[in-house]
Amino acid sequence: MKRGLGVCYYPEHWPEEIWAKDAARMADTGLTWVRIGEFAWSRLEPVPGTFDFGWLDRAIETLGAAGLKVVLGTPTATPPRWMAERHPDMFARDAEGRVRGFGSRRHYCFSHRGYRAECARIVTALAERYGGNPHVQAWQTDNEYGCHDTTVSYSEAARHAFREWLAQKYQSPQALNRAWGNVFWSMEYASFDEIDLPNLTVTEPNPSHVMDFRRFASDEVVAFNRLQTDILRRHTDAPLIHNYMGRETGFDHFDVGADLDVASWDSYPLGFLSDRLEVGEAHRLRFVRQGDPDLQAFHHDLYRAVGRGRWWVMEQQPGPVNWAPWNPAPLPGMARLWAWEAFAHGAEAVCYFRWRQAPFAQEQMHAGLLRPDSVAAPALEEAAQVARELAEFDAEAGCRSGDVALIFDYASAWAWQTQPQGRDFDYFRLAFEFYRGLRRLGFNVDIVPPSTADLSAYRLVLAPGLATVGAPLIGALAAVRGVALVGPRTNAKTPAFATPVPLPPALPGLDCTVARVESLPPDCHVPLEGGGAFRHWREFVEGGAEVRLRSAGGVPGVMASGALWYLAGWPDATGLLRILREAAAAAGLGTEHLPEGLRRRDTRTHRIWLNYASEPIRHGDLEVPACGVAFEPLSAPEPVASTEGARGG
Ligand code: GAL
Repeated sequence: MKRGLGVCYYPEHWPEEIWAKDAARMADTGLTWVRIGEFAWSRLEPVPGTFDFGWLDRAIETLGAAGLKVVLGTPTATPPRWMAERHPDMFARDAEGRVRGFGSRRHYCFSHRGYRAECARIVTALAERYGGNPHVQAWQTDNEYGCHDTTVSYSEAARHAFREWLAQKYQSPQALNRAWGNVFWSMEYASFDEIDLPNLTVTEPNPSHVMDFRRFASDEVVAFNRLQTDILRRHTDAPLIHNYMGRETGFDHFDVGADLDVASWDSYPLGFLSDRLEVGEAHRLRFVRQGDPDLQAFHHDLYRAVGRGRWWVMEQQPGPVNWAPWNPAPLPGMARLWAWEAFAHGAEAVCYFRWRQAPFAQEQMHAGLLRPDSVAAPALEEAAQVARELAEFDAEAGCRSGDVALIFDYASAWAWQTQPQGRDFDYFRLAFEFYRGLRRLGFNVDIVPPSTADLSAYRLVLAPGLATVGAPLIGALAAVRGVALVGPRTNAKTPAFATPVPLPPALPGLDCTVARVESLPPDCHVPLEGGGAFRHWREFVEGGAEVRLRSAGGVPGVMASGALWYLAGWPDATGLLRILREAAAAAGLGTEHLPEGLRRRDTRTHRIWLNYASEPIRHGDLEVPACGVAFEPLSAPEPVASTEGARGG
């Protein structure tokens, strides 16, 4: 697959007279993809049952005639106002029971069967009309599932569907009572019809109840998406894509991704650094106009796994956004650097959001490649530069396979939200800090799903915080030849969300048991012998495994039986780098310590260096300009990598 650049465009926002000029200018910039349509339902079906496809026919024709390939979005994230008359109960409800009504977007409950039927109807109409259109070369389902906290809904529709889901899963209320431990506090049910959603309880609901609700909510997203992919597949061979989000763990993306051909995500580096990361103020300030040096890369690797090797950036921040608490402008060079970071990780396409800044409605403060008056915004020339550079290099998408695997598991995010035990025990944060450490040490990382049954390609495997480890992964971890570093909290829950006895981690071959745990309030640190500390969380472990690291007072902090290592706490950055370096050395992998701000990723043909710092960085013989990129040819090119092999059942 050839790499390409693209842009998100809303023909329905602009007079038809300027479409052709816009299209020609996109093509001149070197863009090859244009995504349209994903919010246009009110224009596609202005009156229930009456479609108006004329304008979309002409828009697709105009863009296609300019040589652009169209990604057509299904408009189901924005049902028109008349839908509320037809299905007054289609809205989601928040945990307080309040309706999340019309007037913005994503105003639907995934479980509402009537709304699903409406989605099937509009998707069928679009698929029939455009499934064979030569300009429509990819489809996007809906838009950002889960955005604005919409995966979970406490509506009547969700309540009914949840009861059915539970009945399917447990078959009898007695089996459910046993699995959830409902004898505790007399919570036993005599019938599935007695079970409510886990909101509006006096104090915390049963965590097993909450976990099943989270699994159910995730399955509803999968079913909603599958309804659309089943229809689209009957009418088109073009790849089906969804645009996922940054730091969104509300549903299992691997499950949704199984029904799609390509994963994509929406990358807003400055917005995310402003409001989605636990970092110190000095770090936030240092990268305020560049974005965190590891967050984009983490998602690139994650979504490469979700897409089984095929992935895009569907929306790329071009200038200030409108939705973060503060919205700084990127430094010159960053709109180019972000695109290269994505291509370095194997992206097939990077599409900027959006073409022209809208002078009206909610996102009028959100930059585009053009200003509202159609004058070029700074990112337009940077996009053109990337397009020229793409043409210079080997144009095939792909990246080198990782040296290290990090297991990422959505259900673990739900588990530790359900029972954090310490307020700041956050699964995403834990996994991301491990990722950051690996990247600082210069590794190419592959993120792999918890269903994986084969890790033989990796000498070093990390599985922090994995709440429940399934049998295939247990086997794969046991077979790792270098080092498999697990913990803290790995395998600490049964599938029913109980504490396992024998106590965790209960991994065959690892002679180490977590006897007890404690969470640590902010600023309460447990120093590690030799430097660094545990914070947030630590465990007291016992057993015959070798002690490789101790915390203050000689308490074991890392224990190892052969290749299986157990980490009994959440290390700070210093401690984590030490532990990762030691594990890498034991696995026979060399490490580097990259300067703050400098990162790298290997493609099949090049080592791509990315400097997130606002000053040039010298590293050995290499000098990378501020907010710049350097391309170092690799002597032995590798065939296109794919994470496909790493994906288990
Ligand atoms: C994304 C969304 C776009 C737009 C953008 C603004 O989350 O998919 O429609 O709202 O944010 O940054």
